Amino acid sequence: MITINRHYDKLHANYLFSTISRRVAEFQKANPTANIIKMGIGDFTKALPAACITAFHRSVDEMASDATFRGYGPEQGYDFLREAAARVEFTSRGASISADEIFISDGAKCDTGNIQELFSTDSVVAVQDPVYPVYVDTNVMAGRTGEWSEGRYGGLVYLESGEENGFVAEPPEIPVDLVYLCFPNNPTGTVASSATLERWVEYAKHHRALILFDAAYAAYIRDDALPHTIYEIPGAEEVAVEFRSFSKTAGFTGTRCAYTVIPKRCRAFAADGSERSLHELWNRRHTTKFNGVSYPVQRAAEAVYSAEGLKEIRSLADFFLGNAKIIREGFERLGLKVYGGVHSPYIWVRTGSDSWEFFDRLLSDAHVVCTPGAGFGRCGEGYVRFSAFNARSAIEEAMARIERVMTAEGT
Ligand SMILES: Cc1ncc(COP(=O)(O)O)c(C=O)c1O
Repeated sequence: MITINRHYDKLHANYLFSTISRRVAEFQKANPTANIIKMGIGDFTKALPAACITAFHRSVDEMASDATFRGYGPEQGYDFLREAAARVEFTSRGASISADEIFISDGAKCDTGNIQELFSTDSVVAVQDPVYPVYVDTNVMAGRTGEWSEGRYGGLVYLESGEENGFVAEPPEIPVDLVYLCFPNNPTGTVASSATLERWVEYAKHHRALILFDAAYAAYIRDDALPHTIYEIPGAEEVAVEFRSFSKTAGFTGTRCAYTVIPKRCRAFAADGSERSLHELWNRRHTTKFNGVSYPVQRAAEAVYSAEGLKEIRSLADFFLGNAKIIREGFERLGLKVYGGVHSPYIWVRTGSDSWEFFDRLLSDAHVVCTPGAGFGRCGEGYVRFSAFNARSAIEEAMARIERVMTAEGT
């Protein structure tokens, strides 16, 4: 008898965005003429930068000739991309990360989901609440949690993030082994200061813990004084892994390219307390289970770091931040409390009511899709998330509809 991994039975519900898609599809079926504007999932809506397209075409042409054809590449990624990423994203900001500490992959979702398999199943895991669901669900699947009860999994440490701490969790009083941090944050759109990250690095050193730092939205930070990478914090290279993605930076959501930084000095421990190199462990895992991102995709990603590419991605992020401003101001005019949307493409709005109820109301009355905060954790109840990834006209139309509906209903 083939028996399933029993931990899958603990998973509370379908993946959040699958549930939303199903509800939207049902609504569309019942209301075929409704012109639904989607501000739920964070999917890019602009074409790839011209620099990437040129590099893509050129490298596809290379595949058309025996002399320049590429077969399997290095599992860790081609040096040209690793070197460009190290230079532009890290050394330029004073963080001493070298190209061979970067592992190119096909997505930060896979990497943030897969990394946990390097750690013991009895590791104590902490996540912020609200949280990007991948961190939680992959630890549930791996058996690192207890059962689901009253909106939470047993055994997980939830770092409550709310208005009182500006949705930025501080290190807990208790020791944990593994902590997921995400800044700029999905879903709340908030950012962490250097002082906060210094406290986290200090905590991780003290408890011999590891920080998994998801910086998928780093390209949206507009204040140079804010840390763009955790490696700007001294000592972070011993206690932190960082995840980056080209998805929201350059529109690679469909093209797929990302990377994970594991400094060679980053430590983890065997049961007897002896040190192990996390870099070597991930390299072992990566070379066993992954065969690299395609050559044309890596060439296209490399072009992000060309002078033209950097200019283009800056203006793409500026465009979406312009959308975010419209959303922010729209809700502020309606008298609602709004977070995020300044260094992030996500806007976190306090609805004051049940977040799935608000989602349904907005869908049925304004034909606008948002993401219910409760889907990101118990602390997300009473909030909804709006994504700024859309055409300007769609954002303006959505906000006009929302204002109409909410003004008529008295919010
Ligand atoms: C915080 C965060 N990390 C990772 C990802 C996934 O990125 P990728 O498209 O590289 O898999 C997302 C996508 O929405 C995200 O919000």
